[in-house]
Amino acid sequence: MEVERVQALAYGGLNELPAHFIRPAHERPENSKPIEGIKVPVISLSQPDHNLLVKQIFEASNQWGFFLITDHGISPSLIQRLQEVGQEFFKLPQEEREAYANDPSNGKFEGYGTKMTKNQDEKVEWVDYFFHLMAPKTKVNFDFWPKNPPSYREVTEEYNKEILRITYQLLELLSEGLGLPGKILESHLGGEEIETEMKINMYPPCPQPQLALGVEPHTDMSALTILVPNDVPGLQVWKDGNWVAVDYLPNALFVHVGDQVEVIMFLMFLISGYVRSRYELSNNGVRSSHSSNEVLFVQVLSNGKYKSVLHRSVVNKERMRMSWAVFCTPPHEAMIGPLPEIMDDQNPAKFSTKTYAEYRYRKFNKIPQ
Ligand code: SIN
Ligand code: FE2
Repeated sequence: MEVERVQALAYGGLNELPAHFIRPAHERPENSKPIEGIKVPVISLSQPDHNLLVKQIFEASNQWGFFLITDHGISPSLIQRLQEVGQEFFKLPQEEREAYANDPSNGKFEGYGTKMTKNQDEKVEWVDYFFHLMAPKTKVNFDFWPKNPPSYREVTEEYNKEILRITYQLLELLSEGLGLPGKILESHLGGEEIETEMKINMYPPCPQPQLALGVEPHTDMSALTILVPNDVPGLQVWKDGNWVAVDYLPNALFVHVGDQVEVIMFLMFLISGYVRSRYELSNNGVRSSHSSNEVLFVQVLSNGKYKSVLHRSVVNKERMRMSWAVFCTPPHEAMIGPLPEIMDDQNPAKFSTKTYAEYRYRKFNKIPQ
């Protein structure tokens, strides 16, 4: 099936945006400008005071669901090489890129893509992308990765190693932020089986950027998304009823808290509710023992939770924007949902147990969870 690529359209001498890219009035960037004077949190991962670092990550994830990290240990030259190999791919002749075309409607998500399904308003986004799995190695099919440029694989594998290191570090800091054992989020997400997926977004110059969106408002279904953009700004995050523009900061990584971290927090909340009701029944509400579950309950309730961040991206009239988003997710076959033993009349399931793959399918197809 012939897919109309945004890149081909953009560079084919287009002066006016086709109707299916023109957003309803309230969604247009010209009518929903970001608020001035507010900046997203920027956190140095090399902060020597560990407790302060935990607090900074907690507050950013609790209040924003989003933050930038600096001093993360990924070398600027690796980031530069990652960006070069991605740019090279999008400079290949169109036919060569088409050899990697994906087909999400038939379950073939990996490869070169352009979102074809229109949303409720019959609109599409101003972006082409390349998407593939990076880890775990046992599940990766390198046939889906670009063969050109030839260094694509080596550079991307090296970057993935670094991203995994940072993912585990962030999960630990997020766990500690709730006063929980450092490994708890990691183990809920499958430990060594955590999956990483690369999505290279390519937003060509857009003749009428004030009318279009690069990606429409959404939360990520991952646990965490770690993104590095080129130097063209465009990401906006939703905070207290306003869009906040995220400035470019060389070599900083953009971290989004995704749905799975929020879901895990919700499950812990259910577990803690269960623990509390059992505890109150058996002890008449008098505190006598300090089981680890009780500590968990107290911490989760008193500290609040993490929220996945709503975000969108806008596009640029003159310049191409690109971003490299890595989604860190539970294994697709992992069951996500409250444990059966914590459900009773007082704690009915508010969230049905399903695999991450099913969660993802429902989110793609806008079926309620
Ligand atoms: C996305 O959230 O899907 C992309 C965000 C970006 O390009 O910055
Ligand atoms: Fe996103």
